[in-house]
Amino acid sequence: MRKTIIEPFKIKVTEPLVMKSRAEREKVLKYAHYNLFLVKSEDVTFDFLTDSGTTAMSANQWAAMMVADESYAGSRSFHRFKDKVTQIMGYDHIIPTHQGRAAERLLFGMLLKPGMKIPSNNHFDTTRANIEVMGAQAVDLVIPEGRIPENEHPFKGNIDLDRLESFCREFKDKIPVGMLTITNNTGGGQPVSLENIKKAGEIYHKYGIPFILDACRFAENAFFIKTRESAYATESIPSIVREIFDQADGCMMSAKKDGLVNIGGFIALKNSTWVQELRNQLILTEGFPTYGGLAARDLEALAVGLDEVLSEDYLRYRIATSAYMANSLNEMGVPTVKPAGGHAVYIDAARFLPHIPKEQFPGQALATELYLQDGIRTCEIGSVMFKEAATMELVRMAFPRRVYTQSHFDYILEGFQELKARSSELKGYRIKEAPPFLRHFTAKFERV
Ligand code: F0G
Repeated sequence: MRKTIIEPFKIKVTEPLVMKSRAEREKVLKYAHYNLFLVKSEDVTFDFLTDSGTTAMSANQWAAMMVADESYAGSRSFHRFKDKVTQIMGYDHIIPTHQGRAAERLLFGMLLKPGMKIPSNNHFDTTRANIEVMGAQAVDLVIPEGRIPENEHPFKGNIDLDRLESFCREFKDKIPVGMLTITNNTGGGQPVSLENIKKAGEIYHKYGIPFILDACRFAENAFFIKTRESAYATESIPSIVREIFDQADGCMMSAKKDGLVNIGGFIALKNSTWVQELRNQLILTEGFPTYGGLAARDLEALAVGLDEVLSEDYLRYRIATSAYMANSLNEMGVPTVKPAGGHAVYIDAARFLPHIPKEQFPGQALATELYLQDGIRTCEIGSVMFKEAATMELVRMAFPRRVYTQSHFDYILEGFQELKARSSELKGYRIKEAPPFLRHFTAKFERV
């Protein structure tokens, strides 16, 4: 076995990388009030803001888009998409939506009443928001190891089964659905083991609670199962995936991640109980049940993407990227959440910049400096985003799928060496102006 894991594709279409000077970026950042969400992408060299909707599509996906059937009702492309989801996940009832949060709004809009409770390992922000807007409560029950950045547990996304059992016993009448997020994005892109998925399913079902997966990074999770859970070492990825979905009653999926597409999502369900009402609501706000707010060409690209994402060569390369980045950063003394997640590396800015107090946003200081030095756009996940509720000061580098190459990552690592050498010179920030909600998107900053 060679040491180097190669990109399992060659490149047919290229896009120029933006190359600007530090002086030019200084101007851009000042104009954007030191908020990277307000920087234009044409001023960014390496965009690690998110892995969502940022994938490069394959020649086969583009080809499939050309033969899409854009009929309003009963499109051939819908059936191709639906049959693919059924083949991979084993669910018969498939409801397309334009992205993940539309699926969340549909399902929770139908099921939730004030006072209800939805357990999961960790809910993603939009999932939590769509639960809370209905007056219900999103409850995080991840294992304690999942909350400790240095802890090297192989399945830090696991749900705490003892707490889940007692939670379900106490509140079963208030829980219309139980969840698990695979991989656990909020916890650092950490996987959930098949054993944990099975046991969580048993607990939910024992109390008569339907079990729904948030499946947007299901293939990355399956690869972690294959490589870290010994019982599955010789299983194929499709069979691990099938076993995951067999445990649940359905899933919600933002296809912008492991669907390998730029837009799309769906709800997939084992049985038909909720289907009619979901479709009625879908028609009201998203579109007819055979397109659900998407173009047929999006459904075609997704049908192909769902196959491509199951390739072991692809997944080995994909997971190697974040592991390579995290390990290399750790070796040079840049602390990250451990072990590396699937789609992202989370840098511990509080430990990297110990001279900048929490009140002066060490994550923001690191994120803005990464932009100034090398044109890298990342996302602060700390006191800017969560205010006083923040327990860590992280900077997320989320990697778009199939977009950047090994030499890009090596170049970025060289930059980190330089940054590390002068990290003590970095300055903190203060907030000049901010809205009352979701302030990280639009807040204006100034340097301390
Ligand atoms: N669930 C998880 C676990 C997610 O990570 C996301 C999106 C969603 C649901 C919502 O899906 O964006 O298609 O509406 N995560 C993106 C991110 C935005 O950057 O982590 P969506």
